[in-house]
Amino acid sequence: MKRYLTTPIYYASGAPHPGHAYTTLVADSYKRFYRLLGDDVMLITGTDEHGQKIERAAAAAGTPVVDFVDARSGEFEALWHALDIDVDFFERTTRPAHRALATAFWQRLAAREDIYRGEYEGLYCVDCEQYFTEGDTCPVHRKPLERFSEPSWFFRLSRYRDALIRHIESHPRFILPAARRNEVLAFLNGNALRDLAISRTSTRWGIPVPGDSAHVMYVWVDALVAYLSALSPDGVAGLDEESLQAWWRQTTHFIGKDILTFHAVYWPALLMAADLPLPQSIVVNGWLTVEGRKIAKSDPATMIDPAELAATVGPDGLKLYFLKSVSLGQDLDFNRAQLVHGTNTDLANNIGNLFSRFTALGDQHFAGEWQRQSALPAGDRELLATLAAAAGRIAGHFEQAEVAQAAREFVEAAARVNSFIQQAAPWQIPDRERLATLMWTLHHTLADLTLIGMPFVPETMARARAALCLSAPPAWRDVGRTRDVVATRHGAPLYPRIKAAG
Ligand code: MSP
Repeated sequence: MKRYLTTPIYYASGAPHPGHAYTTLVADSYKRFYRLLGDDVMLITGTDEHGQKIERAAAAAGTPVVDFVDARSGEFEALWHALDIDVDFFERTTRPAHRALATAFWQRLAAREDIYRGEYEGLYCVDCEQYFTEGDTCPVHRKPLERFSEPSWFFRLSRYRDALIRHIESHPRFILPAARRNEVLAFLNGNALRDLAISRTSTRWGIPVPGDSAHVMYVWVDALVAYLSALSPDGVAGLDEESLQAWWRQTTHFIGKDILTFHAVYWPALLMAADLPLPQSIVVNGWLTVEGRKIAKSDPATMIDPAELAATVGPDGLKLYFLKSVSLGQDLDFNRAQLVHGTNTDLANNIGNLFSRFTALGDQHFAGEWQRQSALPAGDRELLATLAAAAGRIAGHFEQAEVAQAAREFVEAAARVNSFIQQAAPWQIPDRERLATLMWTLHHTLADLTLIGMPFVPETMARARAALCLSAPPAWRDVGRTRDVVATRHGAPLYPRIKAAG
């Protein structure tokens, strides 16, 4: 089965922060999970490079806007590399194929008469690139809203309210977790939708509106279309029908809760208007906060460099901490000491020591290769069943968009194997036959652990598999699979303790 996974197309207005990293890590763990299931998965991310917000940021930096977005976009790309995130395509809204597709998309809406020209007046937050209907301060950025009045092209969003409600009601997995779905339904049921102003004259930095070059497209329309254009290779003008059929129908958008309305209301309505299929799911995560404040470029005190965090605790340390700590839909107050402590507890002690201790025993007692010598006692069978059950629960949690619960299952499974070893005390068993059988069971248990841990700490699990001399490509269906001969290769500690703190 094919699956197309997307992260938001991040604003190229400043440096990436842990909030961006978090959404991307969630998407990455899904990609790895689906790939283990045998699916053909494509993960895309990218940068949102047009609009007044970017233009102003470039001006403030004293840099030509084209150079500015090149540099910012490069930082995001470098970060995903540093975090070992398995990205298949990095879209940029300044890419010519994207610009061509956004133009074609607009023309599709115009052909359906879902676009008309009017006058917009309202209070605008440049950082959100969004009009607000009430209040004089942006609720997200806590900055005064600016009064704008401009001629604008409008999208007939109001036409789509009933169709949106019907779609969300009949597709329970369209918005996950369910609390977010209820929120969107309540919004749609409680409000008449106003038509959406989808062009701007206040900036030239954007994609010109076809046939009216005094306007550029509203940056959110431009950016949302990036999900489609990432499927269009360079040189293909317009929608690439083949990719659309192959990938688009299996789309999951991973987003933060701040951009839910754009993805769950505007985007599906735009797609309906363009007569294109809707994504399958929108998976919504909460915010990371620092001392209760949302991490944001506009709030310098909250800015923390994710690459520096990954350099301190390793990409897998950061992945496990974020994935395990942030229940989707809830917020996490970031704390550096907890990150270091959590990495040491989970990765260095619980998981790392488990593998290192086991491979040392395998090398010491069996010169790194042995077979089972007797039937498995009940305790050994139970241990193997524990791992199979954990694998089942993890799969269920991914299905329900409960990534934190999935990651915790993995860590708890490792803890259970540790207490089993502690009790079985293989280092005290004089009977060689029993020892060989016990160690055989443990080998399989750890092999299973490498599979269920792969979505969260892929690099560490790849090294763990090498230490268990497992050469087959990892596959979820191999949980519980047994081998006659097992082997170990003891080496450096799997995950060294992190010394840095504070
Ligand atoms: N450019 C738009 C998205 C267009 S998608 C077609 C945008 N960019 S953004 O850079 O401001 O943020 C994108 C996403 O980053 C947020 O929705 C969220 O997923 C993530 N986060 C940004 N700040 C965050 C936190 N403090 N915490 C968690 N995630 C947050 O919006």
